[in-house]
Amino acid sequence: MTLQIKNLEEYQQVYAASVADPEGFWAAQASSFHWHKPWDKVLEWNFTDPDINWFKGGKLNISENCLDRHLDTRGDQVAILWEPNDPEKPHVTYTYRELHAAVCQAANALRANGISKGDRVCFYMPMVPELAIALLACARIGAIHSVVFAGFSAQALADRIKDATCKMVVCSDYNDRGAKHIPVKSVVDEALAMGCDSIETVLVHRNTGDSVQWNPGRDKWWHEEVPGQATSCPAEVMDAEDMLFILYTSGSTGKPKGVVHTCGGYMVYTCFSFMNVFQYQPGDIYWCTADIGWITGHSYIVYGPLLAGATTVMFEGVPTYPDPGRFWEICDKHQVNQFYTAPTAIRALMAQGDQWVEKYDLSSLHMLGSVGEPINEEAWKWYNEKVGKNRCPIVDTWWQTETGGILISPLAGITPLIPCFATLPLPGIQPILVDAEGQEIEGNDVEGLLCIKFPWPSMLRTTYGDHERCRQTYFAPFPNRYFTGDGARRDKNGNYRIIGRVDDVINVSGHRLGTAEVENAINQHPGVVESAVVGFPHDIKGQGIYAYVIAGSPVADEDLFRKEILDVVSREIGPIAKPDKIQIVSGLPKTRSGKIMRRILRKVASGDTSNLGDVSTLLNPEIVEEIMSGAQS
Ligand code: PRX
Repeated sequence: MTLQIKNLEEYQQVYAASVADPEGFWAAQASSFHWHKPWDKVLEWNFTDPDINWFKGGKLNISENCLDRHLDTRGDQVAILWEPNDPEKPHVTYTYRELHAAVCQAANALRANGISKGDRVCFYMPMVPELAIALLACARIGAIHSVVFAGFSAQALADRIKDATCKMVVCSDYNDRGAKHIPVKSVVDEALAMGCDSIETVLVHRNTGDSVQWNPGRDKWWHEEVPGQATSCPAEVMDAEDMLFILYTSGSTGKPKGVVHTCGGYMVYTCFSFMNVFQYQPGDIYWCTADIGWITGHSYIVYGPLLAGATTVMFEGVPTYPDPGRFWEICDKHQVNQFYTAPTAIRALMAQGDQWVEKYDLSSLHMLGSVGEPINEEAWKWYNEKVGKNRCPIVDTWWQTETGGILISPLAGITPLIPCFATLPLPGIQPILVDAEGQEIEGNDVEGLLCIKFPWPSMLRTTYGDHERCRQTYFAPFPNRYFTGDGARRDKNGNYRIIGRVDDVINVSGHRLGTAEVENAINQHPGVVESAVVGFPHDIKGQGIYAYVIAGSPVADEDLFRKEILDVVSREIGPIAKPDKIQIVSGLPKTRSGKIMRRILRKVASGDTSNLGDVSTLLNPEIVEEIMSGAQS
């Protein structure tokens, strides 16, 4: 059994033991899973290459641990409870036994279509059960999944397919999301027309049934390929360090990178963190509202909960459809016990007024979770009072795509809470703060750059196809440390508060975007010479996107120019990356070495020009005045 900590004293003891003997601690956690062969060595690592091996030589299959392992004990318990976008339609459940059969059928269908161990399969799908089923099917046959959030554009999808040289795309015909009817298959067609030569098959799930273009040599219907398959499927025996999945995420430079997670360590850590942070008890109904296109959905809708034998809710829709009471209606309807969402959703619902949340019976809730961005005090209090009725602990969980699982968070009902603090590290996690030179800042009541100084099982192993980029981004900044890119504060009792990114990454509605990535997209507009993008505080989104744009020639119609830029960004990345504000400028403040002074741009974007600091060293100090006077409010 995975250890489930029960009180603060036990947490302190377990934490101390996990740091004193990490190998012993994680070996004990790993022993509750089904291994075809035990590992030879629990941990071998260096942060220089980096080279990280957990449970080396161990053989397993994560889908067997999510499914087969539970059949005797909870085969008839609901594993996935799917709530559709349309509240008038019935919800759908899969017991562990049914899910096992469905996954085996999908796995056999993938094999029949030429997918085998090590092949990459791309997913571009709405939140339907078939997405979870097909992910587990990939895992079962040792194929590597790469899920692309279905809000990304054809161009972004094509970039990711090419980077991972995927052999297959799994998609839907259409996606009903809120009141929108979104063509999914046609975006895939468009992406594949951009030279994705590695794709042999497109497996299309019929979701809405509306007609789609068909490429007979390439496209296959899910309902023709999957249901006729056998309901058992021998699992591929994987090495603990074989790749499980790739998930693309944005950094401060260049194109998004494919973060790689491997089988054994990811399995052990997602299960352990799920059981402990959420304090899941048998029979509980757990709901994480994330999209499986992001890491939260991978780790805490699919893998963590299923490994723990939980009932996990999967929701197709959006928080405001058909009205802003939808989340609470679902909590009431399914008697949800653990509810995990993002601050941006909380703020959006808070802005709609209390009547929506007061309409429903939320007495089943035991605990509430928050993830993806700093939660502001006002949102924390509203969540606590209106949703949790002052009786549900709130776990503010800090982690990243790269960390695979939650690293710093209260354990629900155990760790004393402080609003807006992620509080304490999970067992096995050794966070430190460093200064700009990489010197560790010891003691308490201090602030610095957040690093982790010892490996944990679910950490990234590489960035797909470019190990050097992984080294440069995460391990080169400070020798022997994993650098998170976040700044944090440690209070007098050792509790962590995450301040936010210290690099050129912005967090818009919990979606992570690189400013360079948005700039590259804007620069695709033929009339744009140069651009600079920064984040600014936004009431609902957390951060909004502010773009400064230099046009090649005088702009006759500024509104049209702005609209064209938004269209270009939607085309290149997706609507989530559209700037909220675009200021047309004649120049950008630059240092004598040609570097854009983003500090000044951030200040102007946030509406705070009181103290811009010394601008006299700029190459073009006169531009600051122009930028300030033209600031978009
Ligand atoms: O800046 C931190 C912020 O989100 C970043 C990671 O984004 P992503 O890889 O997309 O993963 C999001 C879901 C795990 C972090 O570097 N972040 C995440 N959780 C929190 C947070 N910031 C403050 N508080 C959090 N609880």
